[in-house]
Formats: sequence, structure tokens, C-alpha cells
Amino acid sequence: MARHLITSALPYINGIKHLGNMVGSMLPADVYSRYLRQRGHEVLYICATDEHGTPAELAAKEQGLPVAEFCASAHDAQKAVYDGFALAFDYFGRSSSPQNVEITQHFARKLNENGFIEERAIRQVYSPADGRFLPDRYVEGTCPHCGYDKARGDQCENCTRVLDPTDLIEPRSAISGSTDLEVRETKHLFLLQSKLQHEVEEWVARHEEEWPQLAASIARKWLNEGLHDRAITRDLDWGVPVPADTWPDLAAEGKVFYVWFDAPIEYIGATKEWADQDPENRDWKSWWYDADDTVRYTEFMAKDNVPFHTVMFPATELGVREPWKKVDYVKAFNWLTYYGGKFSTSQKRGVFTDQALDILPADYWRYFLIANAPESDDSSFTWEHFTATVNKDLADTLGNFVNRVLSFSKKRFGEAVPAGGEPGEAETRLGAEIATLLAEYEAQMEALQFRKAAAALRALWSAGNSYLEEKAPWLEIKTDKDGAALTLRTAMNLIHLYAVVSEPFIPGTAAAMRQAFSLEEDTATWITPDEARALTAVAAGTPFTVPPVLFAKLTDDDLDAYKERFGGEPQPA
Ligand code: MF3
Ligand code: ZN
Repeated sequence: MARHLITSALPYINGIKHLGNMVGSMLPADVYSRYLRQRGHEVLYICATDEHGTPAELAAKEQGLPVAEFCASAHDAQKAVYDGFALAFDYFGRSSSPQNVEITQHFARKLNENGFIEERAIRQVYSPADGRFLPDRYVEGTCPHCGYDKARGDQCENCTRVLDPTDLIEPRSAISGSTDLEVRETKHLFLLQSKLQHEVEEWVARHEEEWPQLAASIARKWLNEGLHDRAITRDLDWGVPVPADTWPDLAAEGKVFYVWFDAPIEYIGATKEWADQDPENRDWKSWWYDADDTVRYTEFMAKDNVPFHTVMFPATELGVREPWKKVDYVKAFNWLTYYGGKFSTSQKRGVFTDQALDILPADYWRYFLIANAPESDDSSFTWEHFTATVNKDLADTLGNFVNRVLSFSKKRFGEAVPAGGEPGEAETRLGAEIATLLAEYEAQMEALQFRKAAAALRALWSAGNSYLEEKAPWLEIKTDKDGAALTLRTAMNLIHLYAVVSEPFIPGTAAAMRQAFSLEEDTATWITPDEARALTAVAAGTPFTVPPVLFAKLTDDDLDAYKERFGGEPQPA
């Protein structure tokens, strides 16, 4: 048994996430956490909303709310969706928490003491009408490259060129529209990452062999380009304040830390939020401080987040010169596309997580998404693929098996697992196959190969169907009642096994399957391949009930309705 710390990239506060965000971070982290818990490990799965930065300020402005109020309600709205997806976080925190403020400021002070922070004067756009410096995104104007008149100071949305606010023609404030802009000199804190390059390189070298190729190659690419010193403060009203004890002048000007500085620190902050709710029994530091020998830390994220997690955050942690836990394993994902195009929050393209739950329960999505996770490459969401997968794997292979076996047995033998018949050659063969497939499933889970784990799970479900077709208890019962009882009892043991091992993927359905049997203990405690082989854990005489249909079959009309509502035309990438 080990202690596993698990985090998924913190979802940005500015809106409900789409399915692409879900499959690239939180969902696989939840599947992995559930699996490890079932195997008896001590698991701490931490996530939070990422609440600072310009997008939060802008989203609040759009809704006409003070930022703090906007964030509080947007946090609750996201949490409700994640509950709906059955994400079993140990804690879902907020990067604007006092705990994160405290730890972020501590990190900054330590980096400063150790010579890794420097104050530098830079020239920045100031708006007298707004009484503030304007961050890049707050300056709008005409793109010098393509003439688009709503280009932002950081990038032109039309031609995608990266810009500097001073490149814009006829710049104006995105807040007030004022064109009376000046360039003023102002001081910011810079993190001297260049001084840490060597250490980060050594650290990455010690880990990259174990990391999946996607994570390792991105880390390498960033290191090869060289770590640059970067500004870690911004002129925003909302954020972790620069501490006045260390930088009185910057604090007086109201500078806050840049969102990418405090966001990863919130992994630690949220753990402290968790502990502060029950300080007698929860020790946040034991997960994060001096924990190299006792904790294994796995992070989940999409590929655009990899540089921050493999290079920048480790650089920060190293520079602090205190034994903060650094990531052991980085599980990174490619993109899930919508019909080959981008899921887009701003263009409302694709399926949002709240809409998904309006349509179907979480388990349909959980299974489909993980079975098609963009692990080795991007993968595409289409309604055709989704409905076909639900019908074939969930409704036919798993759901129908469960229902057929339990209904038929109830009809012919009553509401208890039937006695009679000794396991024979077919059961021995089945047991061996199940043991092999379960071992394969475990190996893929341990390797965090989610698509392959899903394939092994599906193969376990299929093995039950093949066995049932081969034994055909509905015919068998005409000539050999004991034989039919054996077949059904064995099939019911498979259902119980499925109930346990399907839990990481489809926890709601797994619970329904477990609860079909009145067992003394309803636990999802793992069943090892050797235990599974016998297929006799659920004894004859155990009462059972027939659960309602586990997965509805989706019709052509359903498919048409989904495509109509969300659009289903292929898009150029
Ligand atoms: N909010 C960021 C994103 O959506 C991820 C932050 S991960 C953290 O890309 F580590 F910084 F918290
Ligand atoms: Zn342009």
C-alpha cells in the first residue's frame, strides 16, 4: 500500500468546461483515483477552480458582477457539474482561498531570499481614463498585419499573430474604450528562471524516462529553447497580492501575482483547505513536505499545460529551497476534437459538460470518453461514434447481459442465486480467460493506459456474453436444470465481478450492479485475478433483485436530435 497524491489541472473559472477539458484532466484522474482506492491505497485527489487572471475579471465584467462574487458562484456551478459526473475529489478548492494566498506569498518570499526574484522596470500601457495599467488583453486596436479592428494586445484573433499592445494601430482601452493611452514605466517582479535552468534540466533528466513520451518531449522542447526570466506580477485588482513586507512599493501599487504563478501552488493550497476543514485528522504537510519517500504524486493535464507542470512549476519549487513534493508522473493528453474541429468555449462549439448531463447520465459519458481518450493522438468526438459505442458496449454487451441473466434466473429459479450443478470444463475455461483479462486490465491501469484498460474491461464483459451464448441456459434448462442453474450462478458471479472492476469507469452503474445482490458486505474491494478465476464469490442462495435497465439504447431519432441541437458537420481542423 502506498500514498498516492493525485491532481488534475485546475479548470479555469470563466465558464462551464466542455467534454474535451473533462477527458484531458479531471475524468482520467478520477478513474485512476478510484482504481487505486479500490486496490487499498491511500489516495488524495485534489482539484480546484483556477480563479485569478484577466479572463476571470473579464467574465465577471460581462456578467456585471464583482469578481469575487462571480468566482464564488462560478465555482459552485462547476462543482455541481463535477458532482454530476461523479468525480470523487477528496477536495475541490479555490485558488483565491486564503490558504493559497499564504502559501503563494511564502513561495515568493523564499524565491526572493534565494536570489531568484528581481524587480525590473518595464514599459506598459497606462490608461488615465481608467486610472490603471492595462494588461495586454485589455488593450484593443487594429491588427498591423491583417487590419482586423478588434485585435487584442496579446494576439490577433483573426490572423492568430502574437502581438504586443504597442503594435496595435489606434489602440484603445477594452474597459472604457478610451483612446487616450500612454506608455509608462512600471516595476514588476521577475522570476529568474534562467538561473534555475540547469537544476530543472537535471531534475527532468531524472524523471523523463518514466514519463509518457508526450510529456517528456514537451518538457525537453522547452528546456532546449532555454528558460527565460519572466514577469510574475500583473496590474490587476483581483489576484494574490504582492506581500507588503517584502515589496512595499509594489504592494502599494496594488500589484498581484500572475495567475500562472499562483495556480499550481493551489495544488498545495487546496490540500491545506482540505486539512483546515478537519485539522485533527488531516495532515496536509505530510502530502507535500519532505514527502519524497512516502508519497507518489501523479498529475493529469492536457498537453498545453505540460510546460507549466514539467518546467515552470518545478523551477519555482526548486528555487524555494524547501523540500516541497515535486511531481513523479505526468499524464498528459492530446486534444479531443468535435468532428475533427476544435471544441471552443468562446464559439460555443461542441458539447459542454452541463449539457452532456442534461442528455444522459454520467456513466454513458465517462465510459465513452475514457474508452476514446486522446492518449497517443488527438481523437474525435462524433455523435455517430458516441451512440454506436453506447449501444454496443454499454447497452448490449454489459447492460443486456446483466438484465438477461437476472430476469431469466428470477423467472425460472426465483429471487436467489440458484444452487445445483458443479463447475465443469466451460467454467474452468471461462475462469482462466477472466483471470487473464483481469490481469491485463490491472496492468493497463497501473500503466495509466486508459484506452487499453477500457478495452480490457470491455473484453471482460464480452467474455460473459460468449459464455452465455455457448451454454444457452434458456435451452439447457429444458434438459438439464442443474446445468442451467450452474450457468446462471456463474453468470451472476460475473455480474458481481463486473460490479467491482467497472467501478472506476462507471461508478453509478457499478453500485447498481453490486446492490442487485444482498451480500453481507457491499464493498467495491478489488477482486484479484486469482480470486476471480473461481467465479464462486456469490454463493447459491444469495437473494438478488433485477435492477432497472442499466443503459438505454439510443435510437436513430436520438442521434438526429443530438446532431440537430449541437451540429454534426465535419469541420476542417
Ligand atoms: N487553468 C489552467 C488551464 O485551464 C490550468 C491550471 S493548472 C495549474 O489551462 F496547475 F496551474 F493549476
Ligand atoms: Zn491580424
